[in-house]
Amino acid sequence: MHPRTIQRRQVAAALVFAPIVWRSARAQNAAQRMATPPQTEGPFYPVSLPRDSDYDLLRNGAMTYGRGQPAWVDGSVSDTSGKPVAGAQVEIWQCDEAGHYHHPGDGGRADPAFQGFGRVTVGADGRYRFRTIRPVPYSGRTPHIHVKVKLGGRELLTTQLYVAGDPNNERDFLWRRMPDPARAAVTVPFVAGSDGLQATFPIVVAA
Ligand SMILES: [Fe+2]
Repeated sequence: MHPRTIQRRQVAAALVFAPIVWRSARAQNAAQRMATPPQTEGPFYPVSLPRDSDYDLLRNGAMTYGRGQPAWVDGSVSDTSGKPVAGAQVEIWQCDEAGHYHHPGDGGRADPAFQGFGRVTVGADGRYRFRTIRPVPYSGRTPHIHVKVKLGGRELLTTQLYVAGDPNNERDFLWRRMPDPARAAVTVPFVAGSDGLQATFPIVVAA
């Protein structure tokens, strides 16, 4: 067969099959969004929630936290079919820049100006955002932000968010034992933006 004929046939075949491939990929996407993998809660979920527990962890009451690298962490909460989970509560908690949590188990040494915990309720679009610091490493852990998602008092997910490219990840006992797709789902880049760092963490829950 003439090479040009083969080429023409291949092109024709590609044109015939491309739409089918495209449709099935889309259908698969919609049907099989992977739920964000759970991670252990750890020992430092607040015993009692701080009086100020809004989206801005860099302001606690009247105090402003000026240490660390400010970062926006945003994203959306959706179910496995891609539908936003309106009304879901997203909570984050993390240590201050010196590696301390607001928790009696961590000696109560956390900086009082760092809110350390925040909670937001998402609207119809499922979107959330927090103002915080890029997480830092502490005693054997790679930088991470703890995340919990609730809906009407029901806990849908407890996990941890990691910083893509952080050299401590490879040595972290929790990060290391996740399979690749799970790591990819909870490890996101913190990139320089116009207002500090910016990280986007899409959360998928089996609502
Ligand atoms: Fe932690």
